[in-house]
Formats: sequence, C-alpha cells, structure tokens
Amino acid sequence: MGNMPSQHALLHPHLASMPLSAALAPEMRAALSEYDPKAAIQRLAECHLEDVFSLPLLCPNFCQQLREEVQYFRQRVEGEGEISPGLLLSSRWYLYQINPGFKVLFDQLLQEVLTQIDHALIPSETHQIAYHQAYCINYEEDRDLSLKAHTDDSDLTVNVFLGIPGFEGAELLLLEPTPEDVAAGTPRLEPGVYKGGITEYHHRAVGTAVLHPGDRWHAVQPLKSGSRWNLIIMAMRNDKEWKRTFYDETSVQLEEKAKFLKKG
Ligand SMILES: [Fe+2]
Repeated sequence: MGNMPSQHALLHPHLASMPLSAALAPEMRAALSEYDPKAAIQRLAECHLEDVFSLPLLCPNFCQQLREEVQYFRQRVEGEGEISPGLLLSSRWYLYQINPGFKVLFDQLLQEVLTQIDHALIPSETHQIAYHQAYCINYEEDRDLSLKAHTDDSDLTVNVFLGIPGFEGAELLLLEPTPEDVAAGTPRLEPGVYKGGITEYHHRAVGTAVLHPGDRWHAVQPLKSGSRWNLIIMAMRNDKEWKRTFYDETSVQLEEKAKFLKKG
C-alpha cells in the first residue's frame, strides 16, 4: 500500500491497458452484440436465488493473468514487510493501487457491461450502479480459510472466480435467514441453531461471476485444500450523496491501518 504500488512493475504489463472486449468472456461479448442484449443476458444467466445470479463475465485467460499479477504483487510487498489489510478477511489487494490502468478498465466494465447486466437481471431498480471498487481476495493454507456470515457494503456485489480450479471446500453459502436468525445480528450457522435456508454455490469455471445484492447474507465454508482466488467488485447506486465517496474513504482507512500495522 502507501505510494509503493504506483512504482510496481507488472508481471503482465499489457494487462492494465487491455481493451475491455479482450477481457470479457466470449459468451458475454456475444450476448452484448446481439440485437436484444437484455434478453441474451437473461438467457446466459443462471438463477440461484430470486436475487442471486451467475454468468460468464470475464475471459479465463484474463482471469488467470490477473491472479498471477496479484500473486506477484503480494509476494513482492510481503517480502518487503508491507501488508494489505482487509476488513473481514486478513487481506485485500486493491487493483487500482497495483496499477491505475485497472481503474480505467473496471470503470469501463461497470459502465458498459455491469450496468446492462444489472438492468437485465434486476429490472425493478431505477438507480444506476455508479460507484465501485475492485479488489482480490484469496483462501489458502496458512492464510484465510473461511469467512463468517456477513453482508457487504454494496448495492450489488460481483464475485468473479479467478482460479485455481481443483481446490476443495470454500463453498459460497447464500443465506436466507429467518427474522429469529438475525435478531441479535450475525446469524449463527450451527445445525440446530440456524433456521433459515442455505444455497451452496461452487466456484468452478474461471471467469464466471456470481452477482448478489449487498444485503444478501453470505458466508464461505472452510477450505480443505488448494487455493481459491476471487475478484470482488462492489458497486453502489447513485441514489445517496454519501455513496459517491464511500469506497475512497474505505481504501484510505485501510491504508492508514496498513501504516499502523507496519509500525507495530
Ligand atoms: Fe461478502
């Protein structure tokens, strides 16, 4: 974090200046070029819960290189004693701090693709998704293995599998807690305690995204083996003034935390 990432040399220098069309999954590119993209997106999407969908979003080759890029960045900064703290998980790697080119690419993804997907799948929303942040997370032995039930600071969360196929465990749990489950805050998922519904989602195809509203409770089961990398794009709608600066404030807070942790 700090000012270091701006000087960071990329492992795949072309990645941060890649045209959006080259980063998209071929199925998504095809859907967007159809006469009725909305209908094509609806056909492409798989529905898991009334407000949770998955669909091919990014090209597997782009995802693999993005994962390698973040792994390379992690190795370098951790070797230099830097950390990149997270909120619920121990680490977050912000793409825009690794290279500002990623901001241009993901701004374009939001404006040209995610907005259309949002319109196609969540038709009742009148406000546009307008503000976002993008970062990578990882489950791996000797690092984070699971994630407790939580909701996100977003109106829409887009969770893209970056690899590595073959990992076991770390299933995403999409939750439908009862009012009793959330009466004291975070639902407890122990058998015999939790009364609500659980839908398991397995990240299998690299580049496929799960989309859910931020207020959908979710959790991650313990990883059993291997390593799972995901790109998280959080987006907010342009319906409240505070949302305009929310993600920038979060990243400043995490940067302050990084400095504090390094001093310790
Ligand atoms: Fe989450």
